[in-house]
Amino acid sequence: MFDKITVIGAGTMGHGIAEIAALNGYDVFLCDISNEILQEAVKKIEWSLRKMVEKGKLDGAGLTLTLNRLKTTTSLAEAVKDSKLIIEAIPENLELKKEIFSKLDKIAHPESILGTNTSSLPISEIAAVTSRPDKVIGIHFFNPPVLMPLVEIVSSDRTSRQTVESVLAFVKTLGKHAILCKKDVPGFVVNRVLEALIQEAAWIVYRGEASILEIDSATKYKAKLPMGLFELSDYVGIDVLYSAGKAIQDRDKGVIVSPLFEEYYKNGWYGKKSGKGFYNYAEGLWEKPKIPSELADKVRLEEIFAPAVNAAAWLLRNDVVDKEELDKAVVLGLNFPEGILQMADKWGIDVLVQVLKTKQSKYGEYYAPNPLLEEMVASNRLGVKTRRGFYEYACDCKILEEIRIILEPPLAWIVLNRPEKLNALSLKMLDELSSVLEELSTDRDVRVVLIKGSPDGKSFCVGVDISTFVNLKPLDALRVSKRLQEVVNKLETFPKPVVAVIDGYALGGGFELALGCDFRIASNRAELGLPEIRLGLIPGGGGTQRLPKIIGEAKAKELIMLGERLKSEEALRIGLVNYVVQPERLDEEVRKFAQKLAEAPPIAIMTAKNVIRLTRHGFLEEGLAFEASSFASLFMTKDAVEGISAFLNKRKTNFIGE
Ligand code: COA
Repeated sequence: MFDKITVIGAGTMGHGIAEIAALNGYDVFLCDISNEILQEAVKKIEWSLRKMVEKGKLDGAGLTLTLNRLKTTTSLAEAVKDSKLIIEAIPENLELKKEIFSKLDKIAHPESILGTNTSSLPISEIAAVTSRPDKVIGIHFFNPPVLMPLVEIVSSDRTSRQTVESVLAFVKTLGKHAILCKKDVPGFVVNRVLEALIQEAAWIVYRGEASILEIDSATKYKAKLPMGLFELSDYVGIDVLYSAGKAIQDRDKGVIVSPLFEEYYKNGWYGKKSGKGFYNYAEGLWEKPKIPSELADKVRLEEIFAPAVNAAAWLLRNDVVDKEELDKAVVLGLNFPEGILQMADKWGIDVLVQVLKTKQSKYGEYYAPNPLLEEMVASNRLGVKTRRGFYEYACDCKILEEIRIILEPPLAWIVLNRPEKLNALSLKMLDELSSVLEELSTDRDVRVVLIKGSPDGKSFCVGVDISTFVNLKPLDALRVSKRLQEVVNKLETFPKPVVAVIDGYALGGGFELALGCDFRIASNRAELGLPEIRLGLIPGGGGTQRLPKIIGEAKAKELIMLGERLKSEEALRIGLVNYVVQPERLDEEVRKFAQKLAEAPPIAIMTAKNVIRLTRHGFLEEGLAFEASSFASLFMTKDAVEGISAFLNKRKTNFIGE
């Protein structure tokens, strides 16, 4: 297709593009205005190739071959001779680029494609100075080109399909992933989303709603971005991000640069390169700023990310990019742990729209939710929770007679489903619970189980069905009690974490089911209690045993002997529930909590659960001995090897449960 490639401009991007092309077998002509610049570029390329040899990614012969494929020249005419693909990588200045393109157009072969590596300038305006706008295209590499796997291909309204196809194919031969930005919009795909995100972080700080450290902690530890957003700004350069943001703002207001960024830019506080940015650096040295993880919950991710999701929705609605490509772009170009649309589906489109509307009413029209998001809310495409959002989520549902199971790996929801009886427990329901727990205990895709009541929020479970108590013989009552105890035991000894999601009533046996779970998260309208005393009975599902252990004997006796119901806030105060949240946010918050548990090492989780349970009633010495042997046994697991090496290599863990 192309034998020879020309790269104009031998700076940071230009020399990297030349290197990756030469590495992949192309003869490359690298052109710049002075021999010194070119020599410097070749030195850098050589250094980088040597690094590859050191790491065993290239052999000595490969290094020599690559260098031999590389020619340098200060003559534009010599550089473009016989070259069918010319990539310009000179500084981001529109007038300069127009000048070069006008020259290239006159001297390059009429069939040659003229690509520009701009990250923010309009391709159409550059193309307009040539007689071949159909052959002008954006080829946006990310820094450093040798390492970053993404290239954005930007088509202007006059770029021909054939040009697009040829360049897509070329990028593939470099071993890179190309995404197609179908329209020449300011910021293209990656920078448009990134600027909306970073500027919002800066607006939040400017408005005094959160601190730099709080935002960086949330984005790094909760959103799991590779760096906090202010840390990233310092790394990339506040000047670079300011200019890119301004370019978008000036062209179509797709982002509004925050006064905080403006102030830093004007003061010359550019980040690591100037020694001061949002953090301070010893001159020229990059040292990761210390970001405390305990601040991660101080600010909601939805508040920071909503404008970026809005920008993504704008890109989709204007048919600039396909949704899968958009997500691929942020994953490969920005090292996000997953696509921004996937994240949005998890947070809930309705939640994000609400955040945007609140910001819109306070701070203006920039925040108006994109109509695409509004349409999604109107048609109940709210994301994971309704199984449809930007993506479809297969609802792996299993409907039994009295319970439903929703598989949403790594989570599994068990929904108690006798709403007409406020989910009163029948023997049938207990049998179904028992067999489902059996199945889920060995399902490798499931790492956390959640038990919840009716979606109407009236009741988690009101306990054993009292209508079955009429004329019940003591022996049968014993069987009922034993059966309920077995199921609660099954929850308590379940090899994975179990979370009770309590909305509405959790009474009697329902409350006892929740006591068997590892965590209880309640809505603020939940009511919990053991009212059996009012029937002339006592709890029979383990309540007299587990409750005193959790809240102490005196308080437990009060609940058991008076049979009064506790409101969730009080339950939280005495340590009976872990968290209380608004009913409309219950599923969302529980899902986030469970996702965190699902990322933890499964065998260590199971072991922790076991050690705590089995040593609860015994002597300290026995407990400590069991703890120590369990601790030691974990050193046989691959997960421990993974956890320790991830810590030492400062990377994310990936526990496989072995
Ligand atoms: N077993 C069987 N049915 C039950 C039930 C239970 N444990 N708890 C509630 N119900 C039924 C009620 O009989 C009623 O049925 P109906 O509509 O056919 O009359 C329906 O659920 C709604 O209950 P109701 O009492 O009308 O609603 P409420 O909102 O006023 O009160 C409760 C709800 C849960 C506070 C109240 O029903 C109650 O105290 N139930 C008993 C809870 C209990 O003692 N559990 C321990 C059992 S060992």
